[in-house]
Amino acid sequence: MRVPSLFVTFALLTFALPTTASRADTLSDRIADGEYLARAADCVACHTAPGGKPFAGGRAFALPFGVVYSPNITPDAETGIGRYSDDEWVDMLHKGVARDGKHLYPVMPYAEYTLMSREDALALKAYLMSREPVRATAPKNTLGFPFNQRWTMVFWNWFNNPNRRFVADQTKSAAYNRGDYLVNGPGHCGECHTPRTFMFGLKRSKAFAGEVQVGWRAYNLTSDKASGLGNWSDDQLFQYLSTGQAPGRGPASGPMAEAVEHSLSQLKADDVKAIVTYLRGVPALSDGPPAVSPEPAAASPDPLGARLFAQACAGCHLPSGSGRQSPWAALAGSHTAADPEGTNLVQVLTQGSELHTKDGLMFMHAFTGAYTDDELAAIANYTQERFGLKKGSISPAMIAKQRTANPDKPAKPSS
Ligand code: HEC
Ligand code: HEC
Ligand code: HEC
Repeated sequence: MRVPSLFVTFALLTFALPTTASRADTLSDRIADGEYLARAADCVACHTAPGGKPFAGGRAFALPFGVVYSPNITPDAETGIGRYSDDEWVDMLHKGVARDGKHLYPVMPYAEYTLMSREDALALKAYLMSREPVRATAPKNTLGFPFNQRWTMVFWNWFNNPNRRFVADQTKSAAYNRGDYLVNGPGHCGECHTPRTFMFGLKRSKAFAGEVQVGWRAYNLTSDKASGLGNWSDDQLFQYLSTGQAPGRGPASGPMAEAVEHSLSQLKADDVKAIVTYLRGVPALSDGPPAVSPEPAAASPDPLGARLFAQACAGCHLPSGSGRQSPWAALAGSHTAADPEGTNLVQVLTQGSELHTKDGLMFMHAFTGAYTDDELAAIANYTQERFGLKKGSISPAMIAKQRTANPDKPAKPSS
């Protein structure tokens, strides 16, 4: 009997690894583990208002039926999480039930955080409780009836919150399992990249097939060659996730720039590699706009677009699109330039984008102040014709519609 039990111990050790935060013997180890998990889970991105103190809450989330604000999660007893007991905290992350018994809206991605072990959940709490308390109360939500009836979330949870902890797949490698945990648990990648059901839950049969969220298209991450990541090399994927750009793939903008800045670029290289290993195994689903243009190159791009691109864009992107002194401004091969729906192209022109990197701030301002809808459509069509789609598809009406979008992210000052 000795051999099998040794094997079992070995198997348990191997397969316990993906989620366990490590042997956190002392409080400071636990805090360090919690800090790392908070990065992997990107708590700060949602729980910080533009220009506000980290974790003090107040960021607005515009949902189809109203605006929800993130609360203060610093240790302040009156306005923050100071009074949470351990059990209340674990229920909050696993079941979406806050300390006062109120059901949280699933903008807070607890249907993914539910995969975290109790130990990981408490490490997170230890880290947040070790920070400076900030007194701050978020503005009141503006949800009308019936969406302000929090108890109805009980039904949502029945269908949409698995309320279970991560279980490793013993037929897969440790790296795959670690990636599975990071992507589907703390990393909550599906919140943006998985299509939604009519109840706004994740449509798990279409996992990672791509979806439009707050005006940006989170592209297909499955191994489909036409619209997904099937043609990316492991190195491109590793570099994109850990820095926000990869040669021949363009930069990460908008919400993905945020995920890279606050979360993915802060992870250990082995963890990013584990994410790559997991993504490689996501079954192909051909959904959403193609990543590579099916069209032949345009014979002569629109001269107005060409002139305006030279004036407004080439300063940073260079006429060739190779990016001046910065690989983050390289456009050739970007999914955004090849997407016939033009969602993110219109978005970056009307909202701008920024990404703090170890090489400094990569910044593109919005162009709505300086150019008309017709001019911006001409620029966008030229960008597609030159760097991706080969045939422009943007109308002035598409620009006009996005000028006023995204109330949670005010447009940046225009040139
Ligand atoms: C995608 C955005 C998003 C992310 C990521 C996110 N949260 Fe939240 N969180 C919210 C929003 C919005 C609410 C308010 C929901 C509501 O009012 O029902 C919330 C609510 C909460 C609450 C409830 C506080 C209370 O008692 O009312 C806690 C605690 C919390 N989040 C902690 C966290 C932690 C810890 C993380 C990282 C592991 C995290 N959140 C990540 C958006 C987010
Ligand atoms: C808050 C929403 C959001 C979250 C969370 C998110 N993404 Fe994204 N992702 C996007 C958007 C939007 C884009 C398109 C960015 C652009 O146009 O530059 C994108 C693009 C990407 C791309 C490039 C795809 C292509 O074809 O160009 C990859 C790879 C990716 N995300 C992986 C991930 C992984 C892995 C996670 C989880 C660790 C994740 N994303 C979490 C919104 C998100
Ligand atoms: C001040 C320098 C600067 C100027 C001027 C500029 N850009 Fe950018 N652009 C950038 C940077 C830097 C990024 C990467 C942003 C990020 O990663 O958040 C970017 C990103 C992009 C993207 C990628 C969007 C995506 O979804 O990944 C496109 C397309 C683009 N720019 C087009 C243009 C066009 C068209 C113009 C002219 C109207 C323009 N840019 C002007 C610096 C600039």
